[in-house]
Amino acid sequence: MRNEEMLLIPGPTPVVDSIYDAMASETRGHTDPRFVAIYKNAIENTRKMLNTDGEVFVISGSGTIAMEMALVNTVAAGEKILIVSQGYFGDRFIKLGEAFGIEVDVIQSEWGRQVDPDEVDRKLAAGGYKAVTLTHADTSTGVAADLDALVPVIKKHGALVILDGVCATAAMDEDMSKTYGDSDAKIDVVLTGSQKAIGVPPGLAIVAFNQTALAAREKIERVPAYYCDIYNWLPIMHDPSKYFATPPVNLIYAYDEGMRLVLEEGMGKRVIRHNAFGKAVRAALSEYGMSALADEEAAASTLSCILYPDGVDDAAFRAALAKKGVIVAGALAHLGGKAFRIGHMGNTTDIMLGQAIEKIGETLNELGVKVSIEKAVARFKEEVSVVV
Ligand SMILES: Cc1ncc(COP(=O)(O)O)c(C=O)c1O
Repeated sequence: MRNEEMLLIPGPTPVVDSIYDAMASETRGHTDPRFVAIYKNAIENTRKMLNTDGEVFVISGSGTIAMEMALVNTVAAGEKILIVSQGYFGDRFIKLGEAFGIEVDVIQSEWGRQVDPDEVDRKLAAGGYKAVTLTHADTSTGVAADLDALVPVIKKHGALVILDGVCATAAMDEDMSKTYGDSDAKIDVVLTGSQKAIGVPPGLAIVAFNQTALAAREKIERVPAYYCDIYNWLPIMHDPSKYFATPPVNLIYAYDEGMRLVLEEGMGKRVIRHNAFGKAVRAALSEYGMSALADEEAAASTLSCILYPDGVDDAAFRAALAKKGVIVAGALAHLGGKAFRIGHMGNTTDIMLGQAIEKIGETLNELGVKVSIEKAVARFKEEVSVVV
């Protein structure tokens, strides 16, 4: 890999050489048949990854554009949504909904914990909710959404399930054909970005709508958006030689290669691999006296928010670790200075993560917190051995 540093923040994630190579291919016109074939393939493979019979959209934009596209095409101004928030990114739906005149109601968990499905059930029982937003892995807390518990509850009340997969897609199970109990209890919308578990540089917004979600779009007379109105993009997604807005040609090359890698490994294997990586990283760091904010049962497989042991200065720790070539992220909001966040997703490998565990141990020792690197590395190898 030509990367000089290990980018272990919770996205963007390390980009592999074949993706860089694809991205550096000659820029062609967006209606050039050679580019059109690649775009078509990338769209088709996105459909395969999410296993949907609906429509997928792959456009320029970050994850936030994908959130916006998901919301404005399913919920009209004046309609009501329930936001199930397990952190900073769950909360983002509040402002987003308000910006479009959507009535928002929210259930927020304590940071590090999951929302209680019974509370969601009670809330939805009041009626009138068009959709519920879930954040599959909240990047601020490392908490996963319990889809097995939440989707049946939401569907019982007839609301749409909008799933933010920005920090989960291609690593956690988001099979849109999967039924959660009843035959129509499925995830209706998955939205994501290119830069996390998909392993491609930032810049693409990806959204998939199932038939139920598309029927919701049909009922909205006027979507309060232009770029994000899926009806403007639908002809292009069916035939990428058509034009609505110029696609990011080189990023699509990169994404096509990223999708090839995802499908080559297969979603089944990727889910198992990410589970093993998450467990192994957290277990190894626990040997250093560090604990994850989320309990293991609630923890996302893609990133972890790790609380420092007493006496570790956040800025000093991350700067010293960065000097060793390992980049991790600080924590958000009230956890700033008390924790750091480490990504273990996408094209990150067990070898990279093992090295990161070593470097974290070295850094702690240098900062005067004496730890056993051998024990932590042994623990990492033991946990990860199920997949390597
Ligand atoms: C879970 C989640 N949702 C949404 C976003 C917003 O994505 P972006 O920063 O690409 O706009 C992020 C960004 O980290 C995220 O982690």
